This record gives sequence, structure tokens and C-alpha cells, in this order.
Amino acid sequence: MGDGGDALAVDPPPGELQVEQVGHAVDALKVSGEQAAVITPWEVSGKVDYEKLIRDFGSQRISPELVQRVEKATGMPAHRFLRRGIFFSHRELDQLLDMYEKGKPFFLYTGRGPSSEALHMGHLIPFEFTAYLQRAFKVPCVIQLTDDEKFLFAKDASLKFEEYVRLGRENAKDIIAVGFDPELTFIFANSDYIGHMYSNIVKIQRLVTYNQARGIFGFGDSDNIGKHGFPAVQAAPSFSSSFPAIFGEKSNLPCLIPCAIDQDPYFRMTRDVAPKLKYRKPALIHSKFFPALQGDDAKMSASDPNSAIFVTDTPKQIKSKINKYAFSGGGATVEEHREKGGNVAVDIPYRYLTFFLEDDDRLDQIREEYSSGRMLTGEIKAELTSVLQAMVSKHQEARKAATDEVVRQYMTIRPLKKEQ
Ligand code: TYM
Ligand code: TRP
Repeated sequence: MGDGGDALAVDPPPGELQVEQVGHAVDALKVSGEQAAVITPWEVSGKVDYEKLIRDFGSQRISPELVQRVEKATGMPAHRFLRRGIFFSHRELDQLLDMYEKGKPFFLYTGRGPSSEALHMGHLIPFEFTAYLQRAFKVPCVIQLTDDEKFLFAKDASLKFEEYVRLGRENAKDIIAVGFDPELTFIFANSDYIGHMYSNIVKIQRLVTYNQARGIFGFGDSDNIGKHGFPAVQAAPSFSSSFPAIFGEKSNLPCLIPCAIDQDPYFRMTRDVAPKLKYRKPALIHSKFFPALQGDDAKMSASDPNSAIFVTDTPKQIKSKINKYAFSGGGATVEEHREKGGNVAVDIPYRYLTFFLEDDDRLDQIREEYSSGRMLTGEIKAELTSVLQAMVSKHQEARKAATDEVVRQYMTIRPLKKEQ
């Protein structure tokens, strides 16, 4: 639907790519309003206008009716990320549900680029959501570790390839700790599994020209040739025939990809090539970005420990980071705060609670009390601190159980349990 269809059949001259296809991952987003936003799979900065993103990318907004359909199809309440519009955009999720309701199962595909040892809370969002979808729909899930991507795209060339491979296995422990069903989940590193997908990779690579890759991803003359070829490697797992050992003779199982919206350019490309390969286009479900402690315009960065809460933080670190660095929408003094109230539109403790506090009623109550000035900044920060301390310590316990042996099991090429 409206996403370029067979656009890649013709080789368009430079600068004349279709809007959908170019996606303006690089260009169009630089001109949105006063503050330039840049969104690529490798960089997100500036103030993001999510409505504009839906228009520019040509995706669909997730309506309340669609959320209800998910609840009906799964017989489970929608995850808070869906209830609260954190997953806000999709491509063909409605069609996927049509098929599911008729008894046609699908598989989930998501991934992680292992660029650092410690994950921050933002990294867990698509995984927590994917694990919920797996429980709700009882479907298999494949998770790609793009150690090759992170090596090819590294700004700092000091890390060896082998180090990215190692980081992939370390990150797999955090992913497993989120709670994926071992009988329904296959985690694979590109460095290891690529041969099994290679026939799909070359077929995709032959269908995407240099100009198209540059239009979609913004590569330039000095970018290495590995970058230009890589998008086909992230595209390939969208097709179930990349997993013959798992899906067997089922060569065209529908696919649903949960990710933050920065990854969409890869999948616009994937959806453009799919019909030419006689494959189904993958469906997508996109999330907003979890913001840095310093606010929407700041960037969470593994090299700045104060920019984010990491899954390795101690309860003490969590408390002090929130108190010292979380951008506050509260009044400058208690008097002013009591009089004018706090601004929940910019307040990071409130925003973080929208992501992680499960209880809808309590969240409403906090919004009410904080914006009216009855609840103080120190109090909302204390509430967030206890929510995050509990979450992080639970995660750390679960990660301890994800030993090298457990990782090996998830990463073994094997058939997964049959659906339902
Ligand atoms: P990576 O490792 O940069 O990010 C992993 C996943 O986390 C999402 N994400 C965020 N979500 C919310 N708030 C944030 N602040 C935030 N930062 C990152 C990303 O969108 C992603 O979903 N190339 C990919 C790896 C990959 C992949 C995939 C991702 C391979 N195949 C299929 C999604 C779907 C990468 O480097 O992700
Ligand atoms: N539902 C949240 C809110 O409206 C999510 C959200 C909105 C958000 N804009 C965001 C999350 C920007 C991260 C970044 O507060």
C-alpha cells in the first residue's frame, strides 16, 4: 500500500527517486521546522516530529481501533507501549491481522547492532515489545545481531571485527533476559549465519542500484563498499526462506518487524524488492524514541554514562542520575511549582514513567497531581527511581541466568516449536 511497489523495476536517474523510496531518511528530515531533525539507522538527532515522519515515510498511524483488534486477536490486553502510543506507526499490520484471524500464522523479526557492552533502557524497548508480541500471538521470532554492520559503520576504526562478534554474544544475554521463549526464538549473528541467507542476499543486492542505496541511506563517495552492500543483509531475514532449518518447506510465511522508526529505511527497501522476488512484503510496527535524561534533543550515548540509565546501573547510580540529570518540567522554586504546576510535555521523569509505569490509573493520577502542582519534582523523581530500580534489578537477575550455555542454545540452528 502506497510504498513504492515496483519502483525499483526501473533504474531512476540520480535525484529522481520516488519520495517513498528515498524515504528522505537523510534529506527531507533536515528541513523539518526550525530545528533540523536527522533520522537515519545510524544517527538520530534534533526534535522529532512524529506526525511528519508518518507523512514523509508514508507509513500508517496506529489507530485505537487497530489496538482493539490486536487485543481481540490475542485475547490479551494490549501492551502499555501500544495503549500509550509509544508504538505509533505501522505498515500493513491490519493485513497481517486479517491473515492471522483466518488462521495464517506469521513470524517476528527484530535485531540489534552490537556496538557497546552495556545497553540503555531505550535499547530494551523493541525487545520488550517483541517478547510481548511473541507471548500474545504465540509465534516464532528471529533476532539478528548485526556485528558486520557495526564494524562497517564504526566511526572509530580502533575496534577489531572480532570485538563486535564478542559484543554480539554479550548483548544476546541482555536480549534473552527480556524473556523470549527458548522454543520459539532463534538468535543469530551475521558473522556466523550469513551463509544460510546468502542466496536471498545476492538476489536482493542485484535489485538495488548504487543510486538507490545512496538515495535511501545517504551514502557518499567516500563510504566504504561494505556499507553499500549491507542493507541487503538486514533485509534478508524478512523472508522466511532465509531460515530453511526453522521454517522448513514454509517458504513464504508472513513477517512482522518491530523496531524504532530509525530502522524504517532498511525495510522500505525490503518492501520494494519483495514483490520482484515473489516474496511477501514484511509488515512493520514502529516505536518512538526513548529520550535521553537531558531531554528530547539530547542523545543517549554509551560514551556518556550520564546521558541514560543503563541496564548495568546500580540502584544508587539510578537514583543519583535521575536526581542530578533528568530534565525537569517543574517550577524553579517550590512556590512557583505549587502555583503553576509542572509541565508534563517536557518533563523527563514523567515521560519515562509513560514508558515504564504499568499502572494506567496511577499514571493518570501522577499527571493530574504533577501538572496541578500538588506533586513536586522531588516526588515524581522518587517515584520514577523506584520503578527503574525494580526494573533494572529484575533485568540483572534474569541476565545472570543467561549463561554462555543458554546463549548457545538460543543461537543453535534448529527447528522451532510448531505454532499453536
Ligand atoms: P540498534 O542496535 O541501533 O538498536 C536496536 C533496536 O533498538 C531501537 N532503538 C531505540 N528504541 C527506542 N528508543 C531509543 N532511544 C532507541 N535506540 C535504538 C532500534 O530502532 C532497534 O529496533 N541495524 C539494527 C539492527 C537490526 C534490526 C533488525 C533492528 C538488524 N535487523 C531488524 C530492528 C529490526 C541496529 O543497529 O539496531
Ligand atoms: N506517549 C509518550 C508521550 O506522549 C511518548 C512520547 C511522545 C515520546 N513523544 C516522545 C517518547 C518523544 C520519546 C520521545 O509523552
